[in-house]
Amino acid sequence: MYHSLTKSALKWHIWMHYLRIMDEILRQIGAFQDEIEAFDTTDADALENFRIRFLGTKGIVKALMGEMKSVPGDRKREFGQVMNAFKQFAESKFGALTEKLIVSGGGAHGIDTTLPGDPLPAGSRHPITLMRNRIVTIFQRMGFAVAEGPEIEDDWHNFTALNLDEDHPARDMQDTFYLSKSPDWLLRTHTSNVQIREMQKGKLPIRIICPGRVYRNETISARSHCFFHQVEGLYIDEDVSFADLKQTLYFFVKEMFGDDVRIRFRPSYFPFTEPSAEMDISCQLCKGKGCAVCKRTGWLEILGCGMVHPKVLENCNIDPTRYNGFAFGMGIERPAMLKYGIRDIRLFSENDVRFLRQFTAAT
Ligand code: DAH
Repeated sequence: MYHSLTKSALKWHIWMHYLRIMDEILRQIGAFQDEIEAFDTTDADALENFRIRFLGTKGIVKALMGEMKSVPGDRKREFGQVMNAFKQFAESKFGALTEKLIVSGGGAHGIDTTLPGDPLPAGSRHPITLMRNRIVTIFQRMGFAVAEGPEIEDDWHNFTALNLDEDHPARDMQDTFYLSKSPDWLLRTHTSNVQIREMQKGKLPIRIICPGRVYRNETISARSHCFFHQVEGLYIDEDVSFADLKQTLYFFVKEMFGDDVRIRFRPSYFPFTEPSAEMDISCQLCKGKGCAVCKRTGWLEILGCGMVHPKVLENCNIDPTRYNGFAFGMGIERPAMLKYGIRDIRLFSENDVRFLRQFTAAT
């Protein structure tokens, strides 16, 4: 009907409307204040309804804001400021009330942020990893660097270069999985292949520790598995002696098992070392008195070692008249079983979380 009004009457009409809106805003602010003061702070549903009524997308504040288009141009700024102040005031009041409600733990939909959250199941390290890390860390402190090699290996690196010729009887000691496609390829039976690969690089001296998984075609039982883990050690330099080997292993054993552990070396045979030895430690369970685990001997065999055979050095193009060194190899499962009191090697690979969950880095 504006077309029937005169210009000044139109202006008057706009102004009246504006005043009525301002009046309404004041009324709503007053109503809001009264209501919020009287509000029952334990009722979360009521608070949410109250909030929606004022601040929701179809709420009072939004509706009043919508009047902006009918506000006279020179009043728009003022109108905006009043409405913003109202909105902020309402928001802060609702915020404070919600907080109060949460702290008092009230309301069907109240969220109590002070409650502990649902625990996320945190993974833990596998006991083999823990033991490997312990072994590796001790050798790293003596200046050994970590080296790794392939699990699928050729015959030469796994056997021939290590002085195990094709018809060497010791090949039978390690029942081998061959790849069906080629008899030259196999799953490595020990980590000694890494020795060869590192020596072939021709960078001397060498001081490495090589953890890894190895495979043997053995019947699976509580005591043996078709795959397990080893750590290989190798030190090549000028004038390395058996005393260096003994001292290195002695330090390792003390760090690993404690000061009261005793060691002994027994002469042994490995084609890749000369002389060769096996090292025993005094049984940690019976302290050397004799028990079922050490088969009443008081000793536990933990590794094989020796001075690297000159032929092995030659196979890797290292001059045996100038360089020599020692090597050793040990299993990881055995010390892990001793340390954690695990009686069945199969537990390591069954991935039963009830088993795995028991190990933490601290243990
Ligand atoms: N490779 C041997 C095995 O798997 C362990 C071993 C013995 C490694 C003597 C060596 C060593 O480096 O010198 O049984």
